[in-house]
Amino acid sequence: MMIERILVIGAGTMGRQIAMSCALAGYATILQDVSAQVLREARAELEGWAASRVAKGKMAREDAELALGRLSQSTDLERSAGQADLVIEAAVEQREIKERIFAQLGCVAPTHAILATNSSTLPSSAIAAASGRPALVCNMHFFNPALVMKCVEIVRNGQTSDATVQAVMGVAKRLGKEPVLVNKEIPGFIANRIMGAINREALELAEAGVASIDDIDTTARTALGHPMGPFELMDLVGLDVIDFIAQMTYAQSGEEQDRPHQLITEKVRSGKLGRKSGEGFYPYTH
Ligand code: 3HC
Repeated sequence: MMIERILVIGAGTMGRQIAMSCALAGYATILQDVSAQVLREARAELEGWAASRVAKGKMAREDAELALGRLSQSTDLERSAGQADLVIEAAVEQREIKERIFAQLGCVAPTHAILATNSSTLPSSAIAAASGRPALVCNMHFFNPALVMKCVEIVRNGQTSDATVQAVMGVAKRLGKEPVLVNKEIPGFIANRIMGAINREALELAEAGVASIDDIDTTARTALGHPMGPFELMDLVGLDVIDFIAQMTYAQSGEEQDRPHQLITEKVRSGKLGRKSGEGFYPYTH
């Protein structure tokens, strides 16, 4: 299956960087969002990112310009999907919205087009039927920041064909990623389950007063070699996202250990969402 044109739906934190990764790998890429303002912000961020890589000598100016030239944007989902060989949906984590998008894609995307969702909480089986082409549907879960992180979890549902898995694996490799195949649609897939276990332990240590948040983070970095401590990472991902993942996991598993942690829930209630809001476990000056 030849993939040349990619449509990324949703220009938020993940979608914009996934789209840029596709453009850098040589794919004709459209970034689609319902908001023209969000698309403008995404374009400005990506141009800034490319300029800083050129300034650091990590990317040739010509390559940056070519990639940005391959990346177009649109608010029109129907028109953008018309030529796509692969759609990566990175819209908001709401089942009804994703279901509506997949139903629309089932009508307007070419019949051969693969439809992947970047969702970390919704298995593709929940929305595959709406598309009318379940064999061409899977999760393609990227990690934040998507331009940097190498992992992509390819999660197949019961009906995903081998050809679909091979095709999205091939795309992920061409993006310079190291894709992993998840054969069962379990809540949290692989990475978020491991991250959840680390976060749970870190939150319990902090709550019990065993050590400060700072010292717990330092320990994860200096004793375990993690690039960031758990609290720094939760702030990067967004405490609202962490809370939402916990809610969805708990709803699916019913296991006490998956219940959203009150420290996180309280922070979200008081608007402390991490880096994006200027404060989470740590304060940030942008
Ligand atoms: N966007 C794009 N590029 C970024 C970036 C961002 N937000 N943040 C950092 N970078 C780039 C920098 O430009 C730099 O590039 P260069 O080496 O080519 O100059 C490189 O990353 C390293 O950045 P820094 O030197 O500023 O800082 P660090 O060395 O500390 O790296 C980090 C930053 C890459 C974020 C690193 O700390 C890290 O890997 N942290 C862990 C991130 C992680 O675990 N992500 C997964 C979260 S879970 C998830 O996303 C799943 C979802 O479902 C919740």
